[in-house]
Amino acid sequence: MNAIAYQLEPQRGLAGLTARPQEIPAPGPHQVLVRVRAAGLNRRDIMLMDGTYPLAARPGVAPLSDGVGEVVAVGDGVIRAAVGDRVTGTYFLGWNDGPQTQALITQQYGATHDGWLAEYILLEEDSVVHAPAHLTDAEAATLTCAGVVAWSALTTPAPVRPGETVLTVGTGTVALFAIQYAAMLGARVISVTSTADKAERLRKLGSDEVIDRTEWPDWENPVLELTGGDGVQHVIDAVGPPTLPKSLAASTYNARVSLIGAFAAEPGRQLADPFGGKYLSIRRPAVGSRADFEAMNHAIAEHGLHPVIDRQFPVDQAVDAYRYFTEGNPFGKVVVTFPQER
Ligand SMILES: NC(=O)c1ccc[n+]([C@@H]2O[C@H](COP(=O)([O-])OP(=O)(O)OC[C@H]3O[C@@H](n4cnc5c(N)ncnc54)[C@H](OP(=O)(O)O)[C@@H]3O)[C@@H](O)[C@H]2O)c1
Repeated sequence: MNAIAYQLEPQRGLAGLTARPQEIPAPGPHQVLVRVRAAGLNRRDIMLMDGTYPLAARPGVAPLSDGVGEVVAVGDGVIRAAVGDRVTGTYFLGWNDGPQTQALITQQYGATHDGWLAEYILLEEDSVVHAPAHLTDAEAATLTCAGVVAWSALTTPAPVRPGETVLTVGTGTVALFAIQYAAMLGARVISVTSTADKAERLRKLGSDEVIDRTEWPDWENPVLELTGGDGVQHVIDAVGPPTLPKSLAASTYNARVSLIGAFAAEPGRQLADPFGGKYLSIRRPAVGSRADFEAMNHAIAEHGLHPVIDRQFPVDQAVDAYRYFTEGNPFGKVVVTFPQER
């Protein structure tokens, strides 16, 4: 049986995503060949398909930044992985630790380098991150993008402290990871959603209070009330510019606001001082480094945390997985699994 890999022809919608025979690549020096067991979808994979991501996908690239598999061969000089290891991979090639550079941002699996929607992936040795042992393959295939950005936003440059309040905005998987991590770090968590039936699920994950923004369009007011008028110390805004003014209004002095979401701003709305006269830090993180990923995995393993999975699709239904991700309003990750018997 031949191996298969999906190829993405950008700006052609789902018609641009097709399965093709894959020639099994041979690892060069400092490369690792991984047989894929599961791969996870992120919003960026839809943006790469639509041509709305800041980086253009290389035509014909194997998509997806997130996945897990077993190392089946290693190239010369590899010391960070061995045949039989169960590994995931970093989002960026070459960002191991420290601050990110502009050059590194263009080197991404599933965009400019072949990603995980394939039976085999070649990883640079530096990109290898071992998967936490207690996670299933589907769970381990959710960590690279949403998991790491939520982690790096909450723990760098300094971790959220117990007793601080974290506000999450949006209920995609960045926010779900952020809720789990913030609760794990001992913070109080307030979450904003537009869907009443998600409230109970958010509470189960770790939210102490949930505000429905359809019931409370000015949701910054109940957040201020819940914090005695002060506001929260940390915001994970996983929506973007449309919700940023409210996120700022819900923040206290010296708050740290992480603007992670990239949804478009409403047209024609300009605020003179979006900071509302407050002094605080706002930043726009880009996923995180390998060091962030490894620190996150250590904490996930230590606390026995399990990522939230909504639905799994076998690899021959990968196009349905994309469709469900965009149209099915999932709560948690959408994962593609690969049969291991051949
Ligand atoms: N910078 C980075 O490194 C990085 C990494 C990963 C993701 N991202 C970005 O982060 C965002 C979230 O990604 P994701 O994968 O977690 O989830 P997602 O599936 O894109 O998130 C969708 C959620 O956002 C909420 N939402 C959408 N439009 C909204 C609006 N106008 N106002 C308020 N809430 C709105 C909805 O939640 P409710 O209806 O429940 O409110 C919805 O469930 C995306 O823009 C993604 O591109 C950035």
